[in-house]
Amino acid sequence: MSYSTQQWTDKTVVITGACSGLGLAAAKHFISLNAKVALLDINEAEARTVLTEIASPNAIFYQTDVTSADAVENAFAQIHNNFQTVDVCLNCAGIAPALKVLDKSGSAQPLAHFNHVIQINLIGTFNVSRIAAQYMLKNDKNVPKETSEDNGVIINTASIAAFEGQMGQTAYAASKGGIVALGLAMARDLAQNRIRVNTIAPGIMGTPLLLNMPESVQESLADTVVYPKRLGSPAEFAKLAQHICENQYLNGETIRLDGALRMGPR
Ligand SMILES: NC(=O)c1ccc[n+]([C@@H]2O[C@H](COP(=O)([O-])OP(=O)(O)OC[C@H]3O[C@@H](n4cnc5c(N)ncnc54)[C@H](O)[C@@H]3O)[C@@H](O)[C@H]2O)c1
Repeated sequence: MSYSTQQWTDKTVVITGACSGLGLAAAKHFISLNAKVALLDINEAEARTVLTEIASPNAIFYQTDVTSADAVENAFAQIHNNFQTVDVCLNCAGIAPALKVLDKSGSAQPLAHFNHVIQINLIGTFNVSRIAAQYMLKNDKNVPKETSEDNGVIINTASIAAFEGQMGQTAYAASKGGIVALGLAMARDLAQNRIRVNTIAPGIMGTPLLLNMPESVQESLADTVVYPKRLGSPAEFAKLAQHICENQYLNGETIRLDGALRMGPR
């Protein structure tokens, strides 16, 4: 197996959080490359609209909660059964509910809130990656031992909040910092299996969360970006994911996709 722009047919790309924002843009992008795409998301209601929009027999939705070991194992078993191979895993499922450590009345941030964000963003990412790696290893038997080709590529989505967590982002920043930290360790673990692991740390991207905000808020957010002074587009995220797959020398790295933005305290 090797990656080049011409060779996406017959590759299977598993994308979590695929019913919205960055995951959805990536799903459309890989479908446009003729890859087979497994869309994993907890939101079944949205899946119908998404599949109608994508309108391709190469796209299959699997309702999956990334925090559940059983659900993820079942999803991958079905994906392998349907597509016979798992080549790329792109983890986009995530949440970002903000809460300060102490609220206005001095009450502490509920532990359940912190736990919930870590469960979905960090543990969910690890849960999906570990099972993806198990299935990518099955590609090993299809290629000669001396090959230099990858068995698979895992791409995790962190955030620049991993480096510059803002007010209200303790849980989110910790979850994304965890994703950054596990990237190199996982790349080292999976090196002998010829599976690469990289992380994308987006800045402010034009996904529904931001695009539903008032124009004035979007403009002031865009103004904080150094250059280009605009929100990042989900299509730019998708193109970076494709590039990571096709550039074999990228491994164990976290790539900021942020127009040189360094976030301030708020
Ligand atoms: N949009 C940005 O500006 C931005 C910036 C930095 C990082 N990110 C990260 O990129 C990723 C995608 O962000 P987005 O803006 O596209 O978000 P989004 O809310 O548009 O999409 C996230 C998707 O994840 C799904 N999801 C949530 N919990 C899940 C679970 N337990 N199991 C399976 N699916 C689940 C949701 O249903 C949704 O479809 C997130 O990890 C986010 O933290 C986004």
